[in-house]
Amino acid sequence: MEPYYQDETVRLYLGDCREVLPGLGLQADLLVVDPPYGDTALAWDRWPDGWPTLAATTASSMWCFGSMRMFLTHGPEFTAAGWRMSQDIVWEKHNGSSRAADRFRRIHEHALHWYRGKWGDVHHETPRTATGVDRRSRVAASRDSRAEHLGTYSERTTWADDGTRLLTSVLQARSMHHGAIHPTEKPVAGLLDPLIRYGCPPGGLVLDLFAGSGSTLDAARQCGRRAVGIEADERYAEAAARRLSNQVIMFDESA
Ligand SMILES: C[S@@+](CC[C@H](N)C(=O)[O-])C[C@H]1O[C@@H](n2cnc3c(N)ncnc32)[C@H](O)[C@@H]1O
Repeated sequence: MEPYYQDETVRLYLGDCREVLPGLGLQADLLVVDPPYGDTALAWDRWPDGWPTLAATTASSMWCFGSMRMFLTHGPEFTAAGWRMSQDIVWEKHNGSSRAADRFRRIHEHALHWYRGKWGDVHHETPRTATGVDRRSRVAASRDSRAEHLGTYSERTTWADDGTRLLTSVLQARSMHHGAIHPTEKPVAGLLDPLIRYGCPPGGLVLDLFAGSGSTLDAARQCGRRAVGIEADERYAEAAARRLSNQVIMFDESA
């Protein structure tokens, strides 16, 4: 099948991922997927049946965006396909889009990491942040300063303060209301970037079955990974292709 868009690092296909993917014969290092959650009565918000099983044929590691309601409803489909959950991340937005006045204003979404097989075989490298860059790392630093900075931390572990801290499980990143090319577009900086760095080695292949605006492909390319995406709606495939063809490729040598 001919890609709808391609360059040296990225390919985008137009079509239903359940029809397109089997013909591509791909094995990816990491899936980053953001399916329609199926949470609302909106016409476009329809859960594509069977995709977790299909996804399991292409990779052993996956970040999946979704709502708690979505994961409670469809969680059994993930486990039936052999996926095991390693952790959940909360994306805290600066603002929410919910118009419901009968509940708390929703300003977050989840990203769950799933894997198959042995955890030790799955690439995972938690990104770190410099101490003091954000409030949480400053709190961690003040707590750590009461302990020995070098030497025995417990019976079996030694710990040295290298001035960095693990990124926390709550990622704060502005949502894409202004300048977005897709109604549910995910931001690259602060969200897709750390998720991809965590789960895909430099130069590795990221696969997005629901590519939308091409944000995952863009993020992967910017941090020195390759990417393949599939999008069913031609309006979004076209917008993604435009986005990707206008972009200056910036490889981060420190990755
Ligand atoms: C939640 S949006 C993804 C948004 C994307 N993460 C972004 O940042 O722009 C889901 C996308 O999946 C597409 N889609 C829905 N069903 C699909 C299917 N079976 N195969 C491929 N794409 C599909 C929709 O057209 C929509 O653009």
